[in-house]
Amino acid sequence: MDSFVVDGLNGKASLKGTVSIEGAKNATLPLMAAALLVEGETKLENVPSIADVLSSKELLEHLGAFVDLKENTCSIRPQNASGTVLEREIAKKMRASVLFVGSTLARNRKVSLPHPGGCVLGSRPIDLFIRGFETLGVNVEEKEGEYYTFSAPNGLKGGEIFFSVISVTATETFMIAATKAEAPVTLKNCAMEPEVIALADFLKACGARIEGAGTPTIVIHPSYLEAPKEPFQVIPDRIEAGSFLILGALAGKEVTVTDINPKHLDALLEALKEMGVAVSIKENEVTVSRPETLKPISIRTHEYPGFPTDLQAPMMILLTQTEGESSVLETIFDGRLNYVDDLVTMGADVRVWNPHKATVKGPTPLKAKDIDGPDIRAGLAFLLAGAIAEGKSHIGNAHLIDRGYEKIETKLSSLGLDIKRVSS
Ligand code: EPU
Repeated sequence: MDSFVVDGLNGKASLKGTVSIEGAKNATLPLMAAALLVEGETKLENVPSIADVLSSKELLEHLGAFVDLKENTCSIRPQNASGTVLEREIAKKMRASVLFVGSTLARNRKVSLPHPGGCVLGSRPIDLFIRGFETLGVNVEEKEGEYYTFSAPNGLKGGEIFFSVISVTATETFMIAATKAEAPVTLKNCAMEPEVIALADFLKACGARIEGAGTPTIVIHPSYLEAPKEPFQVIPDRIEAGSFLILGALAGKEVTVTDINPKHLDALLEALKEMGVAVSIKENEVTVSRPETLKPISIRTHEYPGFPTDLQAPMMILLTQTEGESSVLETIFDGRLNYVDDLVTMGADVRVWNPHKATVKGPTPLKAKDIDGPDIRAGLAFLLAGAIAEGKSHIGNAHLIDRGYEKIETKLSSLGLDIKRVSS
């Protein structure tokens, strides 16, 4: 098991340099799932080298597809993908495996999987998927809420699905599957994340007719999908970008985050400006530095374009350094403040009132600690806490951070942070 040793800056704002951001994890995974329905060879570029992409490759290979991952490109040829079982080990460790339900079902008319696992962010049900597929005429067999088999021997019907909760992967899964339904499918109360729009752009490049991606209502018409001649570019990872911008606001003399789309980061950039951080925005890069004092603010996580839940934990570290009391309202997941107890042991003054609400008093110097991140984003947040703390922190569960961040220690070192990966 790898961990990171971070020698903290003890409050100094000395980080300087430019970090280039990878393609988005949460855009790549739905594209890999969609490729199962595309004739010919799908070529993706700007694919991040992260553990979840490798897991998705294994899922596809287990179904019989050919997948070639090289540097930051991925080619997928699905001709022989006749499998109907999503590999148990992977489905158990990666919630995004659920994305492959739609394409496997649409392609092979059946798919089985265990209840998908992944980050422990609270209860993560799949009821929207079950109800949505039933609307499209799919038979769902459930064994004790633990193992599911979806079957559609006559293919998928058209229809209208209203999502009672806005869900990113449910929106994406049904967009993918609906391209192969026998009649149009209308999705209502959809997620509007940039990754949803990117998926629609890819499907359209393959010949799909999709209207409304990026709005609450999406209509998908049945289509023949063929791989575009040009490789498809994965959009930049707004969460990786946001994580480095928060680091720049915490400890940056001048940190530039490049190869990004600043328009995808409006909520974070607005929050940083409100806190007094100097933010300079160019077409595909943003520069930030630590101000003399940081002002407290209220953060409320929300579906896009609101403040992303995936940046809530990194943001919490910044809130520990503001002059006064800030608050955090986590509206998406009910287990996403679980890391706070560990942060408090580093000296943070955070009070959790209920699973959704916390208040933070600052500024509090942080002390180095040996802690394990419980998920990808809280793990990254602990790296940020270690970066500003006094002393050497050991941040465990590097494998979780590796699920979402490519070469994290190399990038942090390039800004001047003393960080090493160690194996035990
Ligand atoms: N929900 C249901 N029923 C369902 C599905 C979801 O009640 O059948 C609820 C969830 O419990 C949650 C809410 O809907 O309360 C929203 O969750 P959503 O389904 O949107 O989350 P997701 O699609 O599983 C994606 C990202 C997450 C990110 C969330 C929210 C991918 C692969 N994952 O998850 O990313 O936190 O949207 O933006 O796109 C991460 O990258 O670290 C990560 C966890």
